[in-house]
Amino acid sequence: MTPTSAAPTAEDARVAAFEARIAAGESIEPKDWMPERYRKQLIRMMSQHAHSEVVGMLPEGNWITRAPSLRRKMSLIAKVQDEGGHGLYIYCGAETLGVDRHDLVEQLLNGTAKYSSIFNYPTLSWADMGVIGWLVDGAAIVNQTILAKTSYGPYARAMIRICKEENFHKRQGYEIVTTLARGTPAQRAMVQDAVNRFWWPSLMMFGPSDTDSPNSGELLRWKVKRKTNDELRQRFVNLTIPQVQAVELTVPDPDLHYDATSGNWEFGAIDWTEFNQVIRGNGPCNKERLDARRAAHEDGQWVREAATAYAEKHASRATEAA
Ligand SMILES: [Fe+2]
Ligand SMILES: [Fe+2]
Repeated sequence: MTPTSAAPTAEDARVAAFEARIAAGESIEPKDWMPERYRKQLIRMMSQHAHSEVVGMLPEGNWITRAPSLRRKMSLIAKVQDEGGHGLYIYCGAETLGVDRHDLVEQLLNGTAKYSSIFNYPTLSWADMGVIGWLVDGAAIVNQTILAKTSYGPYARAMIRICKEENFHKRQGYEIVTTLARGTPAQRAMVQDAVNRFWWPSLMMFGPSDTDSPNSGELLRWKVKRKTNDELRQRFVNLTIPQVQAVELTVPDPDLHYDATSGNWEFGAIDWTEFNQVIRGNGPCNKERLDARRAAHEDGQWVREAATAYAEKHASRATEAA
């Protein structure tokens, strides 16, 4: 039987000191001691986040060659390139926790790592570029603005720059939406159809409901997360509905209504069965996305080899010179 009043161990004392630092609002840096669970949870979150940035390049990348004007094409290229940069910052941040980026990428390519479910939906029309920038990047901003206050320093700092770029993504998306919503009846129908398809998957981006989110309690206690999934989801809905109304579009939710007491836009039930299907790899585009990432990885093999050879050449020259 385990004694209930065992003397505190050295590990207990370290955990207590760590938790006191977190409670005092200090940020945890790579060389600081941290519980193994904290390290593991951050590696899980940061790698999923980095994978999402990189896989997120694919649905929009598909539309670069079909952008309706040079201006739109330039903005979309810049946005997709930004997402690659976000992946890079976050992989670098994850490496400060003692993991190797190549192992994380391998987990993505072999299908064992998760990434945001939203990127497993297809992009069927140009309006999807507007709606993704507006809703998907908009949801990312709500999530990431809070993550900029996370207790792990490198993750928080990466989020500050990323959020600035996400704001540009959201604005370019909403501008496309505004243009189409004020356009011809066919353009209005196209953008409404895109909202209809992306609304619920955008709400699912915040993850499972708080009643079904096994990691949340610990992550909140360690201030890795500062708000729950449901709190962030509600904030996103409250921010977005006035924007929907401003362009005279609708969301596909007959239960949506404003509650004056709470000040919230109350929304209908989320289809968690669909969410779980997509997370488990059975969404409309899961296979296509991973196949595209694997092909890109193989196509980039020569670049990695050339970069390694170049670095080795420089290192050996430096040794000779010394
Ligand atoms: Fe991003
Ligand atoms: Fe973005």
